[in-house]
Amino acid sequence: MSMQEWIERKRDGGTLAREEIEALVAGLVRGEIPDYQTAAFLMAVYLRGMDEAETTALTSAMLRSGAALDLSAIAGAKVDKHSTGGVGDKVSLVLAPAVAACGGSVPMISGRSLGHSGGTLDKLESIPGFRVGLTLDELCAQVADLGAVFGAATSDLAPADRLLYRLRDATTTVASVPLITSSILAKKAAEGIDGLVLDVKTGSGAFMASPRAARELARSLVSTAERLGVRAVALITDMSQPLGAAIGNSVEVLEAIETLRGKGPRDLVELVTRLGAEMLLLAGLVPDLRVGRRRIARCLADGSAFRRFHSIVARQGGDVAAIENVGLLPRADLHTLIESPVSGYVRSIDCRALGAAACALGAGRRRMEDVIDHGVGLMCMRKVGDAVEAGEPLLLVLYNDAARCAAVRPALEAAYVIGAERPRARPLVRARLAGATCRERS
Ligand code: URA
Repeated sequence: MSMQEWIERKRDGGTLAREEIEALVAGLVRGEIPDYQTAAFLMAVYLRGMDEAETTALTSAMLRSGAALDLSAIAGAKVDKHSTGGVGDKVSLVLAPAVAACGGSVPMISGRSLGHSGGTLDKLESIPGFRVGLTLDELCAQVADLGAVFGAATSDLAPADRLLYRLRDATTTVASVPLITSSILAKKAAEGIDGLVLDVKTGSGAFMASPRAARELARSLVSTAERLGVRAVALITDMSQPLGAAIGNSVEVLEAIETLRGKGPRDLVELVTRLGAEMLLLAGLVPDLRVGRRRIARCLADGSAFRRFHSIVARQGGDVAAIENVGLLPRADLHTLIESPVSGYVRSIDCRALGAAACALGAGRRRMEDVIDHGVGLMCMRKVGDAVEAGEPLLLVLYNDAARCAAVRPALEAAYVIGAERPRARPLVRARLAGATCRERS
């Protein structure tokens, strides 16, 4: 069989056998398949999809294309969380230390910001000296010693994903459920975890904006993870407005620190508590979700989650003075307000527009090689359902470049819809999907 025949079969709606997918991924990593054939294959998958068996075979082959963390020397189940990405989503910064403080082991390998959505590594690098480029040995040792680590994917972790992602980006084939599933899970399974909680976002700031698409992705992620032997649960959560108030890098670290000290915004605390409870349950550290939620809430309130974060920052070379005194974190020199033109209630927020504006101010990158300005960002001073008077602030814009600020102002002014009636409150967690091994609980 040849690549040409595999492309033809996928193009015509057929399926590939496990051995064929393995041979394809092996050929890709050995550099034997030209980009034009890989690109054609990706487009065929994008248009025709893959069934569960094919998606699992692709994920497994991508996982085995490189090295993996060996955490077998650490007692107990290793668990992690993956979010499909959003705006103001600083959950990981709070969740990993909180779960570690409750006895969990969390090897959190994270990504960087791209487009409108932020990235955990960029946020952490707001802390002067914080080092995310750890070796596999350093990652493992820190999980053993502190229960949690924040690291970047090393080049030998699921290298097939990097090769495929570069071409997916260039061929507009990113938004394919089997390709997203295999990309996310190959990297997560390479962490050597036993359980995975998936935070699949839906709403205007999400990658999968519609609830139907979010559910389809959540189902695919959970069933493929379980087929790979990783117990999985997905929560479908709201991203129709930013999580918390801060959007950016140092401002999100600051809000995460407040949350770790028991003073976080309600929505962020709720999501950390819900996801943390799922992780503790997957790790077998609590008998049910109710106890899990209580344990997470307690470690935020009693300072143990913050102390664990402090130890992680120190271990990864970060300046702990900057998390003890957040005034030392990078700050933008300039600020301005976006005010409401009318009185009423916030009916909706164009969450993607806020993420894109923060990115354009310098908080994110349009291309991987762009340089981040850690001090800039936005603070949402009104959220959906809040009352506002004409002339009162909706947003605080933190910036360093007046031209960039002027360029994003119209989009920020248009992002809020104010109406006469208060909209109905919507739940933050829309649904929970559990794999077969977790199905008995809700
Ligand atoms: N995140 C990933 O890691 N891969 C995708 O394909 C999409 C989001």
